Amino acid sequence: MAIDDLFSLAQAARAHAYAPYSRFPVGAALRAGSGTLYSGCNVENAAYPLGVCAETSAISAMVAAGETVLSEILVLGPGPDRIAPCGACRQRIAEFAHEKSLVHLADDAGGVLSLPLAELLPHPFGPASIKGR
Ligand code: THU
Repeated sequence: MAIDDLFSLAQAARAHAYAPYSRFPVGAALRAGSGTLYSGCNVENAAYPLGVCAETSAISAMVAAGETVLSEILVLGPGPDRIAPCGACRQRIAEFAHEKSLVHLADDAGGVLSLPLAELLPHPFGPASIKGR
């Protein structure tokens, strides 16, 4: 599949998830505008609300490398069920996504549901909303 590379990278990142509290390791991998891939995992904290989602980690890695265009992102939970990004992560994805950006919801067996971000976050508040302010 065309997203095998994202799946493998998300799997590798999930193996490094720091999720001792939820015991729910998540990996994410994204393809940036340049074609370079970035990955992330969830990083929890004893102060529970400080935990960071896998998608957010991957986006931070992309931005730290100097990229701000997100073409597609794959998220992989512990399986066997697919998981979808939380609301906050949908908003963070929207910040860097374009009209054709895809979100791939993967399961452990390699099954994937690919959705345009617009289906996960319709009527977004985004950079265009505050343009010119
Ligand atoms: N989590 C993610 O990393 N990404 C998601 O899409 C959903 C939830 C994390 C947050 C927390 O560390 C754990 O999964 C359980 O909610």
